Amino acid sequence: MRRLFLVLAAALLPIAALPFTAGAAPDDYTQVERGRYLAIGGDCVACHTIPGGTQWAGGRGIQTPFGDIVTPNLTPDEETGIGHWSADDFYRAMHTGVMPSGAHLYPAFPYTYYTKVTRADSDAIYAFLRTLPAVHNAVDRDTLPFPFKVRALMLGWNEMFFRAGTFEADPQRSAEYNRGAYLVEGLGHCGACHTPMNWAGANDAARYLQGNVLQAWTDPNITDEQRIGLGSWSVDDIVEYLKTGRNARAQASGPMAEVVVYSTSGMSDADLHAIATYLKQRGAAGPAAPSPRPADDAQMQSGAVVYTDNCSACHKRDGTGVEAMFPPLRGDQVVQQTDPTTVLRIVLQGAQGAATDAAPTAPAMPAFSWRLSDQQVADVVTYIRNSWGNTAQAVPASDAARLRKRVADTAE
Ligand code: HEC
Ligand code: HEC
Ligand code: HEC
Repeated sequence: MRRLFLVLAAALLPIAALPFTAGAAPDDYTQVERGRYLAIGGDCVACHTIPGGTQWAGGRGIQTPFGDIVTPNLTPDEETGIGHWSADDFYRAMHTGVMPSGAHLYPAFPYTYYTKVTRADSDAIYAFLRTLPAVHNAVDRDTLPFPFKVRALMLGWNEMFFRAGTFEADPQRSAEYNRGAYLVEGLGHCGACHTPMNWAGANDAARYLQGNVLQAWTDPNITDEQRIGLGSWSVDDIVEYLKTGRNARAQASGPMAEVVVYSTSGMSDADLHAIATYLKQRGAAGPAAPSPRPADDAQMQSGAVVYTDNCSACHKRDGTGVEAMFPPLRGDQVVQQTDPTTVLRIVLQGAQGAATDAAPTAPAMPAFSWRLSDQQVADVVTYIRNSWGNTAQAVPASDAARLRKRVADTAE
Protein backbone atom coordinates (compact mmCIF):
# COMPACT_ATOMS: atom_id res chain seq x y z
CA MET A 1 0.00 0.00 0.00
CA ARG A 2 2.92 2.26 0.58
CA ARG A 3 3.86 1.56 -2.99
CA LEU A 4 0.45 2.72 -4.13
CA PHE A 5 0.79 5.87 -2.10
CA LEU A 6 4.20 6.71 -3.51
CA VAL A 7 3.17 6.02 -7.09
CA LEU A 8 0.23 8.33 -6.61
CA ALA A 9 2.36 10.97 -4.97
CA ALA A 10 4.74 10.83 -7.93
CA ALA A 11 1.81 11.13 -10.31
CA LEU A 12 0.63 14.19 -8.44
CA LEU A 13 3.80 16.19 -8.88
CA PRO A 14 3.11 17.20 -12.49
CA ILE A 15 -0.16 18.82 -11.41
CA ALA A 16 1.63 21.18 -9.10
CA ALA A 17 4.18 21.83 -11.82
CA LEU A 18 1.65 22.55 -14.58
CA PRO A 19 2.70 25.86 -16.08
CA PHE A 20 0.26 28.70 -16.23
CA THR A 21 -0.10 28.87 -19.97
CA ALA A 22 0.30 32.27 -21.52
CA GLY A 23 -2.59 33.58 -23.57
CA ALA A 24 -5.03 34.31 -20.76
CA ALA A 25 -5.25 38.02 -19.96
CA PRO A 26 -3.98 39.02 -16.49
CA ASP A 27 -7.58 39.73 -15.42
CA ASP A 28 -8.37 36.11 -16.01
CA TYR A 29 -5.47 34.98 -13.89
CA THR A 30 -7.37 34.82 -10.61
CA GLN A 31 -10.27 33.03 -12.24
CA VAL A 32 -7.92 30.46 -13.76
CA GLU A 33 -6.13 29.93 -10.46
CA ARG A 34 -9.45 29.56 -8.69
CA GLY A 35 -10.49 27.02 -11.32
CA ARG A 36 -7.28 25.09 -10.83
CA TYR A 37 -7.96 24.94 -7.09
CA LEU A 38 -11.61 23.95 -7.55
CA ALA A 39 -10.60 21.19 -9.96
CA ILE A 40 -8.43 19.77 -7.16
CA GLY A 41 -11.45 19.89 -4.85
CA GLY A 42 -13.43 17.99 -7.49
CA ASP A 43 -10.74 15.31 -7.85
CA CYS A 44 -11.20 15.57 -11.64
CA VAL A 45 -7.69 14.64 -12.68
CA ALA A 46 -7.75 11.32 -10.80
CA CYS A 47 -10.50 10.02 -13.06
CA HIS A 48 -9.55 11.88 -16.24
CA THR A 49 -6.01 10.47 -16.44
CA ILE A 50 -4.67 6.97 -17.07
CA PRO A 51 -2.19 6.23 -14.28
CA GLY A 52 1.15 7.25 -15.77
CA GLY A 53 -0.57 8.87 -18.79
CA THR A 54 -0.97 12.49 -19.80
CA GLN A 55 -2.85 14.50 -17.20
CA TRP A 56 -6.40 15.40 -18.20
CA ALA A 57 -6.27 13.48 -21.48
CA GLY A 58 -8.74 10.83 -20.27
CA GLY A 59 -8.77 7.12 -21.05
CA ARG A 60 -9.10 5.66 -17.56
CA GLY A 61 -11.80 3.01 -17.20
CA ILE A 62 -14.16 3.71 -14.30
CA GLN A 63 -15.73 0.55 -12.89
CA THR A 64 -19.50 0.50 -12.59
CA PRO A 65 -21.88 -2.41 -11.95
CA PHE A 66 -22.79 -2.24 -15.64
CA GLY A 67 -19.27 -2.28 -17.10
CA ASP A 68 -16.30 0.07 -17.35
CA ILE A 69 -16.89 3.61 -18.63
CA VAL A 70 -13.90 5.37 -20.11
CA THR A 71 -13.22 8.96 -19.11
CA PRO A 72 -13.03 11.51 -21.93
CA ASN A 73 -10.22 13.89 -22.79
CA LEU A 74 -10.79 17.25 -21.04
CA THR A 75 -7.95 19.14 -22.72
CA PRO A 76 -8.96 21.82 -25.26
CA ASP A 77 -8.19 19.62 -28.27
CA GLU A 78 -10.81 20.46 -30.93
CA GLU A 79 -11.25 16.97 -32.22
CA THR A 80 -10.81 14.62 -29.26
CA GLY A 81 -11.12 16.96 -26.27
CA ILE A 82 -13.58 19.65 -25.26
CA GLY A 83 -11.99 22.38 -27.41
CA HIS A 84 -15.28 23.23 -29.10
CA TRP A 85 -17.26 23.38 -25.83
CA SER A 86 -18.47 26.78 -24.59
CA ALA A 87 -18.73 27.71 -20.91
CA ASP A 88 -22.49 27.13 -21.29
CA ASP A 89 -21.91 23.64 -22.64
CA PHE A 90 -19.58 22.92 -19.77
CA TYR A 91 -22.01 24.13 -17.14
CA ARG A 92 -24.81 22.11 -18.71
CA ALA A 93 -22.67 18.95 -18.41
CA MET A 94 -21.76 19.72 -14.79
CA HIS A 95 -25.28 20.73 -13.85
CA THR A 96 -27.44 18.26 -15.75
CA GLY A 97 -25.13 15.53 -17.13
CA VAL A 98 -25.93 16.34 -20.76
CA MET A 99 -23.38 16.78 -23.57
CA PRO A 100 -23.61 19.57 -26.17
CA SER A 101 -25.05 17.01 -28.62
CA GLY A 102 -27.91 16.42 -26.20
CA ALA A 103 -26.67 12.91 -25.40
CA HIS A 104 -26.64 11.89 -21.76
CA LEU A 105 -23.57 11.25 -19.66
CA TYR A 106 -23.50 8.32 -17.23
CA PRO A 107 -23.40 9.07 -13.52
CA ALA A 108 -19.93 7.48 -13.31
CA PHE A 109 -19.24 11.15 -14.00
CA PRO A 110 -20.54 12.49 -10.67
CA TYR A 111 -22.83 15.16 -12.12
CA THR A 112 -25.39 14.07 -9.54
CA TYR A 113 -23.09 15.92 -7.09
CA TYR A 114 -21.53 18.52 -9.40
CA THR A 115 -25.04 19.81 -10.09
CA LYS A 116 -24.59 21.81 -6.87
CA VAL A 117 -21.48 23.59 -8.17
CA THR A 118 -22.25 27.26 -8.75
CA ARG A 119 -22.16 28.77 -12.21
CA ALA A 120 -19.20 30.96 -11.17
CA ASP A 121 -17.21 27.94 -9.95
CA SER A 122 -18.07 25.97 -13.07
CA ASP A 123 -16.87 28.89 -15.21
CA ALA A 124 -13.62 29.05 -13.26
CA ILE A 125 -12.94 25.34 -13.78
CA TYR A 126 -13.77 25.79 -17.46
CA ALA A 127 -11.36 28.75 -17.70
CA PHE A 128 -8.63 26.65 -16.10
CA LEU A 129 -9.24 23.72 -18.47
CA ARG A 130 -8.85 26.12 -21.43
CA THR A 131 -5.28 26.84 -20.32
CA LEU A 132 -4.20 23.19 -20.54
CA PRO A 133 -2.09 22.17 -23.51
CA ALA A 134 -4.35 20.51 -26.10
CA VAL A 135 -3.63 16.79 -26.29
CA HIS A 136 -4.89 14.67 -29.14
CA ASN A 137 -6.26 11.52 -27.52
CA ALA A 138 -9.37 9.81 -28.82
CA VAL A 139 -10.99 7.50 -26.28
CA ASP A 140 -13.70 4.90 -26.80
CA ARG A 141 -16.88 6.40 -25.38
CA ASP A 142 -18.95 3.38 -26.19
CA THR A 143 -17.72 0.58 -23.94
CA LEU A 144 -20.86 -0.55 -22.15
CA PRO A 145 -22.69 -3.67 -23.34
CA PHE A 146 -26.23 -3.46 -24.70
CA PRO A 147 -28.68 -2.28 -23.37
CA PHE A 148 -26.63 0.05 -21.14
CA LYS A 149 -24.82 1.49 -24.14
CA VAL A 150 -28.06 3.24 -25.08
CA ARG A 151 -27.47 6.64 -23.50
CA ALA A 152 -31.14 7.58 -23.79
CA LEU A 153 -31.75 5.11 -20.96
CA MET A 154 -30.31 7.76 -18.70
CA LEU A 155 -33.42 9.84 -19.30
CA GLY A 156 -35.35 7.32 -17.25
CA TRP A 157 -32.58 7.00 -14.68
CA ASN A 158 -32.42 10.77 -14.22
CA GLU A 159 -36.19 10.89 -13.98
CA MET A 160 -36.08 8.42 -11.10
CA PHE A 161 -32.91 9.37 -9.25
CA PHE A 162 -31.69 12.83 -10.19
CA ARG A 163 -32.84 16.39 -9.60
CA ALA A 164 -30.67 19.16 -10.97
CA GLY A 165 -30.29 21.68 -8.21
CA THR A 166 -28.20 24.46 -6.81
CA PHE A 167 -26.68 24.49 -3.38
CA GLU A 168 -28.90 26.09 -0.75
CA ALA A 169 -27.10 27.39 2.31
CA ASP A 170 -28.82 26.64 5.62
CA PRO A 171 -29.35 30.02 7.30
CA GLN A 172 -29.49 28.33 10.74
CA ARG A 173 -25.88 27.17 10.33
CA SER A 174 -22.52 28.92 10.34
CA ALA A 175 -20.80 30.09 7.18
CA GLU A 176 -18.12 27.48 7.83
CA TYR A 177 -20.67 24.66 8.03
CA ASN A 178 -22.25 25.83 4.79
CA ARG A 179 -18.89 25.99 3.03
CA GLY A 180 -18.27 22.40 4.16
CA ALA A 181 -21.72 21.37 2.96
CA TYR A 182 -21.10 22.95 -0.43
CA LEU A 183 -17.81 21.08 -0.80
CA VAL A 184 -18.99 17.67 0.49
CA GLU A 185 -22.40 17.66 -1.23
CA GLY A 186 -21.08 19.17 -4.45
CA LEU A 187 -17.52 19.29 -5.75
CA GLY A 188 -16.06 16.77 -3.28
CA HIS A 189 -18.80 14.21 -4.16
CA CYS A 190 -17.87 12.34 -0.97
CA GLY A 191 -21.25 10.63 -0.97
CA ALA A 192 -20.52 8.97 -4.33
CA CYS A 193 -18.39 6.49 -2.39
CA HIS A 194 -19.62 6.88 1.19
CA THR A 195 -23.38 6.49 0.55
CA PRO A 196 -25.02 3.08 -0.06
CA MET A 197 -26.28 2.43 -3.59
CA ASN A 198 -29.55 0.99 -4.80
CA TRP A 199 -30.06 -1.63 -7.53
CA ALA A 200 -29.62 0.99 -10.26
CA GLY A 201 -26.28 2.26 -8.96
CA ALA A 202 -27.86 5.44 -7.54
CA ASN A 203 -26.85 6.68 -4.10
CA ASP A 204 -29.61 6.20 -1.55
CA ALA A 205 -30.29 9.71 -0.26
CA ALA A 206 -32.03 8.34 2.85
CA ARG A 207 -28.75 6.75 3.95
CA TYR A 208 -26.47 9.66 2.98
CA LEU A 209 -22.81 9.12 4.07
CA GLN A 210 -23.70 5.95 5.99
CA GLY A 211 -21.13 3.73 4.29
CA ASN A 212 -20.89 1.56 1.21
CA VAL A 213 -18.72 -1.08 -0.40
CA LEU A 214 -17.08 -0.51 -3.78
CA GLN A 215 -14.29 -2.33 -5.59
CA ALA A 216 -13.69 -4.64 -2.61
CA TRP A 217 -13.17 -1.72 -0.21
CA THR A 218 -15.44 -0.67 2.62
CA ASP A 219 -16.23 3.04 2.38
CA PRO A 220 -16.94 3.74 6.05
CA ASN A 221 -19.81 5.65 7.58
CA ILE A 222 -18.58 9.26 7.80
CA THR A 223 -21.48 10.74 9.76
CA ASP A 224 -20.95 11.63 13.42
CA GLU A 225 -22.11 8.14 14.45
CA GLN A 226 -20.24 6.76 17.48
CA ARG A 227 -19.72 3.07 16.73
CA ILE A 228 -18.94 3.02 13.01
CA GLY A 229 -18.74 6.70 12.06
CA LEU A 230 -16.59 9.67 12.99
CA GLY A 231 -18.22 10.14 16.41
CA SER A 232 -14.96 9.73 18.30
CA TRP A 233 -12.91 11.83 15.84
CA SER A 234 -12.37 15.52 16.52
CA VAL A 235 -12.51 18.16 13.80
CA ASP A 236 -8.69 18.25 13.91
CA ASP A 237 -8.47 14.44 13.52
CA ILE A 238 -10.53 14.69 10.33
CA VAL A 239 -8.49 17.63 9.00
CA GLU A 240 -5.23 15.78 9.63
CA TYR A 241 -6.52 12.64 7.89
CA LEU A 242 -7.72 14.55 4.83
CA LYS A 243 -4.52 16.58 4.64
CA THR A 244 -1.94 13.85 5.21
CA GLY A 245 -3.77 10.55 4.70
CA ARG A 246 -3.29 9.50 8.29
CA ASN A 247 -3.85 10.41 11.88
CA ALA A 248 -3.47 8.64 15.20
CA ARG A 249 -6.59 6.55 14.46
CA ALA A 250 -6.44 5.59 10.84
CA GLN A 251 -4.57 5.62 7.58
CA ALA A 252 -6.13 6.17 4.20
CA SER A 253 -5.55 3.25 1.88
CA GLY A 254 -7.05 2.13 -1.42
CA PRO A 255 -9.48 4.55 -3.09
CA MET A 256 -9.28 7.03 -0.19
CA ALA A 257 -5.49 7.26 -0.52
CA GLU A 258 -6.14 8.40 -4.07
CA VAL A 259 -8.69 10.99 -2.93
CA VAL A 260 -6.18 12.33 -0.40
CA VAL A 261 -3.31 12.50 -2.89
CA TYR A 262 -5.19 14.10 -5.76
CA SER A 263 -7.75 16.13 -3.92
CA THR A 264 -7.96 16.76 -0.19
CA SER A 265 -4.19 17.13 0.42
CA GLY A 266 -4.30 20.03 -2.06
CA MET A 267 -7.17 21.83 -0.35
CA SER A 268 -6.70 24.79 1.97
CA ASP A 269 -6.75 24.28 5.74
CA ALA A 270 -9.83 26.50 5.89
CA ASP A 271 -11.73 24.29 3.45
CA LEU A 272 -10.66 21.09 5.22
CA HIS A 273 -11.78 22.59 8.50
CA ALA A 274 -15.11 23.46 6.90
CA ILE A 275 -15.54 19.90 5.62
CA ALA A 276 -14.73 18.46 9.05
CA THR A 277 -17.10 20.88 10.76
CA TYR A 278 -19.90 19.88 8.42
CA LEU A 279 -19.27 16.15 8.93
CA LYS A 280 -19.24 16.56 12.73
CA GLN A 281 -22.21 18.89 13.00
CA ARG A 282 -24.54 17.42 10.42
CA GLY A 283 -25.49 14.65 12.82
CA ALA A 284 -25.13 10.93 13.43
CA ALA A 285 -26.86 8.32 11.32
CA GLY A 286 -26.44 4.61 10.79
CA PRO A 287 -27.93 1.22 11.50
CA ALA A 288 -28.65 0.25 15.11
CA ALA A 289 -25.83 -1.78 16.65
CA PRO A 290 -26.49 -5.53 16.43
CA SER A 291 -26.33 -7.39 19.73
CA PRO A 292 -22.82 -8.66 20.44
CA ARG A 293 -22.03 -12.32 19.86
CA PRO A 294 -22.10 -14.27 23.11
CA ALA A 295 -18.62 -15.19 24.32
CA ASP A 296 -19.48 -18.91 24.26
CA ASP A 297 -20.41 -18.81 20.57
CA ALA A 298 -18.23 -21.33 18.64
CA GLN A 299 -16.85 -18.68 16.26
CA MET A 300 -15.99 -16.38 19.17
CA GLN A 301 -14.15 -19.16 21.00
CA SER A 302 -12.13 -20.22 17.99
CA GLY A 303 -11.51 -16.55 17.11
CA ALA A 304 -10.17 -15.87 20.59
CA VAL A 305 -7.56 -18.61 20.17
CA VAL A 306 -6.51 -17.33 16.74
CA TYR A 307 -6.30 -13.80 18.19
CA THR A 308 -4.13 -14.79 21.14
CA ASP A 309 -1.73 -16.72 18.93
CA ASN A 310 -1.46 -14.27 16.02
CA CYS A 311 -2.58 -10.79 16.93
CA SER A 312 -2.28 -10.07 20.65
CA ALA A 313 1.49 -9.50 20.57
CA CYS A 314 0.87 -6.27 18.69
CA HIS A 315 -2.76 -5.29 19.29
CA LYS A 316 -2.70 -6.51 22.94
CA ARG A 317 -5.09 -8.95 24.58
CA ASP A 318 -7.51 -6.18 25.47
CA GLY A 319 -7.41 -4.70 21.95
CA THR A 320 -5.86 -1.40 23.08
CA GLY A 321 -2.80 -1.64 20.81
CA VAL A 322 0.39 0.33 21.39
CA GLU A 323 0.32 4.05 20.91
CA ALA A 324 1.91 5.28 17.67
CA MET A 325 2.82 1.67 16.77
CA PHE A 326 -0.13 -0.70 16.64
CA PRO A 327 -3.63 0.72 16.31
CA PRO A 328 -6.27 -0.15 18.91
CA LEU A 329 -8.99 -2.50 17.68
CA ARG A 330 -11.20 -1.73 20.68
CA GLY A 331 -13.74 0.91 19.72
CA ASP A 332 -12.29 1.05 16.20
CA GLN A 333 -14.87 2.01 13.61
CA VAL A 334 -13.21 0.29 10.63
CA VAL A 335 -13.42 -3.01 12.52
CA GLN A 336 -17.14 -2.53 13.20
CA GLN A 337 -18.41 -1.42 9.77
CA THR A 338 -21.48 -3.37 8.72
CA ASP A 339 -19.59 -4.53 5.66
CA PRO A 340 -16.42 -6.43 6.74
CA THR A 341 -14.51 -6.16 3.44
CA THR A 342 -11.74 -3.88 4.65
CA VAL A 343 -11.09 -5.83 7.88
CA LEU A 344 -10.93 -9.09 5.94
CA ARG A 345 -8.63 -7.48 3.40
CA ILE A 346 -6.26 -6.20 6.08
CA VAL A 347 -6.04 -9.59 7.81
CA LEU A 348 -5.48 -11.41 4.51
CA GLN A 349 -3.15 -8.92 2.83
CA GLY A 350 -1.64 -6.98 5.70
CA ALA A 351 -1.19 -3.22 5.51
CA GLN A 352 1.69 -0.83 5.43
CA GLY A 353 1.08 2.73 6.48
CA ALA A 354 2.49 5.45 4.29
CA ALA A 355 6.01 6.33 5.39
CA THR A 356 6.42 10.04 5.96
CA ASP A 357 9.39 12.14 6.93
CA ALA A 358 8.15 12.10 10.50
CA ALA A 359 7.91 8.29 10.56
CA PRO A 360 10.13 6.97 7.76
CA THR A 361 9.60 3.31 8.60
CA ALA A 362 5.95 3.02 9.46
CA PRO A 363 5.19 -0.23 11.30
CA ALA A 364 3.49 -2.81 9.09
CA MET A 365 0.62 -5.17 9.65
CA PRO A 366 1.71 -8.62 8.39
CA ALA A 367 -0.39 -10.60 5.90
CA PHE A 368 -2.07 -13.74 7.25
CA SER A 369 -3.45 -15.26 4.04
CA TRP A 370 -0.70 -17.86 3.94
CA ARG A 371 -1.18 -18.84 7.56
CA LEU A 372 -4.90 -18.78 8.40
CA SER A 373 -7.73 -20.74 6.75
CA ASP A 374 -10.89 -18.97 5.57
CA GLN A 375 -12.65 -20.24 8.69
CA GLN A 376 -9.90 -18.92 11.00
CA VAL A 377 -9.91 -15.53 9.27
CA ALA A 378 -13.69 -15.32 9.63
CA ASP A 379 -13.47 -16.39 13.27
CA VAL A 380 -10.79 -13.89 14.29
CA VAL A 381 -12.58 -11.08 12.45
CA THR A 382 -15.87 -12.01 14.13
CA TYR A 383 -13.99 -12.04 17.43
CA ILE A 384 -12.47 -8.55 17.09
CA ARG A 385 -15.84 -7.22 15.89
CA ASN A 386 -17.49 -8.48 19.08
CA SER A 387 -14.94 -8.06 21.89
CA TRP A 388 -14.09 -5.25 24.31
CA GLY A 389 -17.41 -3.49 23.72
CA ASN A 390 -17.28 -3.76 19.92
CA THR A 391 -20.40 -5.04 18.18
CA ALA A 392 -20.88 -6.00 14.55
CA GLN A 393 -22.35 -8.79 12.44
CA ALA A 394 -20.59 -12.18 12.49
CA VAL A 395 -18.60 -12.94 9.35
CA PRO A 396 -19.04 -16.29 7.56
CA ALA A 397 -16.04 -18.19 6.13
CA SER A 398 -17.55 -17.75 2.65
CA ASP A 399 -16.90 -13.98 2.89
CA ALA A 400 -13.23 -14.63 3.65
CA ALA A 401 -13.04 -17.11 0.76
CA ARG A 402 -14.60 -14.62 -1.66
CA LEU A 403 -12.26 -11.81 -0.69
CA ARG A 404 -9.21 -14.09 -0.72
CA LYS A 405 -9.99 -14.88 -4.33
CA ARG A 406 -10.70 -11.27 -5.22
CA VAL A 407 -7.47 -10.06 -3.64
CA ALA A 408 -5.46 -12.79 -5.39
CA ASP A 409 -7.00 -11.82 -8.76
CA THR A 410 -6.16 -8.16 -8.37
CA ALA A 411 -2.75 -8.51 -6.67
CA GLU A 412 -0.52 -5.54 -7.51
C1 HEC B 1 -15.28 9.39 -10.45
C2 HEC B 1 -14.63 9.70 -11.70
C3 HEC B 1 -14.79 11.11 -12.25
C4 HEC B 1 -14.52 12.30 -11.62
C5 HEC B 1 -14.06 12.51 -10.19
C6 HEC B 1 -14.74 13.33 -12.61
N1 HEC B 1 -15.16 12.78 -13.79
FE1 HEC B 1 -15.61 13.80 -15.49
N2 HEC B 1 -16.28 12.05 -16.32
C7 HEC B 1 -16.13 10.80 -15.79
C8 HEC B 1 -16.64 9.81 -16.71
C9 HEC B 1 -16.65 8.30 -16.51
C10 HEC B 1 -17.11 10.53 -17.84
C11 HEC B 1 -17.74 9.94 -19.08
C12 HEC B 1 -19.18 9.66 -18.85
C13 HEC B 1 -19.87 9.16 -20.08
O1 HEC B 1 -19.20 8.78 -21.05
O2 HEC B 1 -21.11 9.14 -20.08
C14 HEC B 1 -16.86 11.94 -17.54
C15 HEC B 1 -17.23 12.98 -18.40
C16 HEC B 1 -16.96 14.30 -18.18
C17 HEC B 1 -17.30 15.38 -19.08
C18 HEC B 1 -17.98 15.22 -20.43
C19 HEC B 1 -16.95 15.35 -21.51
C20 HEC B 1 -17.37 14.83 -22.84
O3 HEC B 1 -16.57 14.94 -23.78
O4 HEC B 1 -18.47 14.27 -22.96
C21 HEC B 1 -16.86 16.55 -18.51
C22 HEC B 1 -16.98 17.94 -19.08
C23 HEC B 1 -16.24 16.19 -17.25
N3 HEC B 1 -16.31 14.83 -17.07
C24 HEC B 1 -15.67 17.10 -16.39
C25 HEC B 1 -15.20 16.78 -15.12
C26 HEC B 1 -14.74 17.76 -14.16
C27 HEC B 1 -14.63 19.25 -14.43
C28 HEC B 1 -14.45 17.08 -13.03
C29 HEC B 1 -13.99 17.63 -11.68
C30 HEC B 1 -14.76 18.74 -11.15
C31 HEC B 1 -14.71 15.67 -13.29
N4 HEC B 1 -15.15 15.53 -14.58
C32 HEC B 1 -14.53 14.66 -12.37
C33 HEC B 1 -15.60 10.49 -14.55
C34 HEC B 1 -15.21 11.42 -13.61
C1 HEC C 1 -13.41 7.04 -4.49
C2 HEC C 1 -14.20 6.78 -3.31
C3 HEC C 1 -14.13 7.79 -2.18
C4 HEC C 1 -14.39 9.14 -2.23
C5 HEC C 1 -14.77 9.99 -3.45
C6 HEC C 1 -14.23 9.63 -0.89
N1 HEC C 1 -13.89 8.60 -0.05
FE1 HEC C 1 -13.47 8.78 1.94
N2 HEC C 1 -13.00 6.80 2.03
C7 HEC C 1 -13.10 5.91 0.99
C8 HEC C 1 -12.63 4.61 1.44
C9 HEC C 1 -12.55 3.34 0.61
C10 HEC C 1 -12.24 4.76 2.79
C11 HEC C 1 -11.64 3.71 3.71
C12 HEC C 1 -10.14 3.82 3.59
C13 HEC C 1 -9.38 2.77 4.33
O1 HEC C 1 -9.99 1.79 4.80
O2 HEC C 1 -8.16 2.92 4.44
C14 HEC C 1 -12.50 6.16 3.13
C15 HEC C 1 -12.24 6.71 4.38
C16 HEC C 1 -12.56 8.01 4.75
C17 HEC C 1 -12.42 8.54 6.09
C18 HEC C 1 -11.88 7.77 7.29
C19 HEC C 1 -13.03 7.07 7.96
C20 HEC C 1 -12.61 6.03 8.94
O3 HEC C 1 -13.48 5.63 9.72
O4 HEC C 1 -11.46 5.56 8.93
C21 HEC C 1 -12.85 9.84 6.05
C22 HEC C 1 -12.89 10.81 7.20
C23 HEC C 1 -13.25 10.11 4.69
N3 HEC C 1 -13.07 8.96 3.92
C24 HEC C 1 -13.76 11.32 4.26
C25 HEC C 1 -14.04 11.61 2.93
C26 HEC C 1 -14.43 12.93 2.46
C27 HEC C 1 -14.62 14.15 3.34
C28 HEC C 1 -14.60 12.82 1.11
C29 HEC C 1 -14.97 13.92 0.13
C30 HEC C 1 -14.08 15.07 0.12
C31 HEC C 1 -14.33 11.44 0.75
N4 HEC C 1 -14.00 10.74 1.87
C32 HEC C 1 -14.41 10.95 -0.54
C33 HEC C 1 -13.54 6.19 -0.30
C34 HEC C 1 -13.82 7.46 -0.79
C1 HEC D 1 3.49 -7.35 13.98
C2 HEC D 1 2.42 -6.60 14.57
C3 HEC D 1 0.98 -6.96 14.16
C4 HEC D 1 0.35 -8.18 14.23
C5 HEC D 1 0.93 -9.50 14.69
C6 HEC D 1 -1.00 -7.93 13.81
N1 HEC D 1 -1.18 -6.64 13.47
FE1 HEC D 1 -2.89 -5.78 12.88
N2 HEC D 1 -1.92 -4.03 12.54
C7 HEC D 1 -0.59 -3.80 12.80
C8 HEC D 1 -0.23 -2.47 12.33
C9 HEC D 1 1.14 -1.81 12.38
C10 HEC D 1 -1.40 -1.93 11.78
C11 HEC D 1 -1.56 -0.55 11.10
C12 HEC D 1 -1.22 -0.78 9.65
C13 HEC D 1 -1.57 0.36 8.74
O1 HEC D 1 -2.74 0.71 8.67
O2 HEC D 1 -0.68 0.83 8.06
C14 HEC D 1 -2.44 -2.92 11.95
C15 HEC D 1 -3.75 -2.73 11.56
C16 HEC D 1 -4.77 -3.64 11.79
C17 HEC D 1 -6.16 -3.38 11.52
C18 HEC D 1 -6.75 -2.08 10.93
C19 HEC D 1 -7.14 -1.14 12.02
C20 HEC D 1 -7.66 0.17 11.46
O3 HEC D 1 -8.45 0.83 12.11
O4 HEC D 1 -7.28 0.56 10.33
C21 HEC D 1 -6.85 -4.50 11.86
C22 HEC D 1 -8.36 -4.73 11.74
C23 HEC D 1 -5.89 -5.46 12.34
N3 HEC D 1 -4.63 -4.90 12.29
C24 HEC D 1 -6.19 -6.73 12.80
C25 HEC D 1 -5.24 -7.68 13.12
C26 HEC D 1 -5.55 -9.07 13.37
C27 HEC D 1 -6.95 -9.67 13.38
C28 HEC D 1 -4.36 -9.69 13.62
C29 HEC D 1 -4.12 -11.16 13.87
C30 HEC D 1 -4.66 -12.07 12.87
C31 HEC D 1 -3.32 -8.68 13.54
N4 HEC D 1 -3.89 -7.50 13.23
C32 HEC D 1 -1.98 -8.94 13.76
C33 HEC D 1 0.28 -4.68 13.41
C34 HEC D 1 0.03 -6.00 13.67
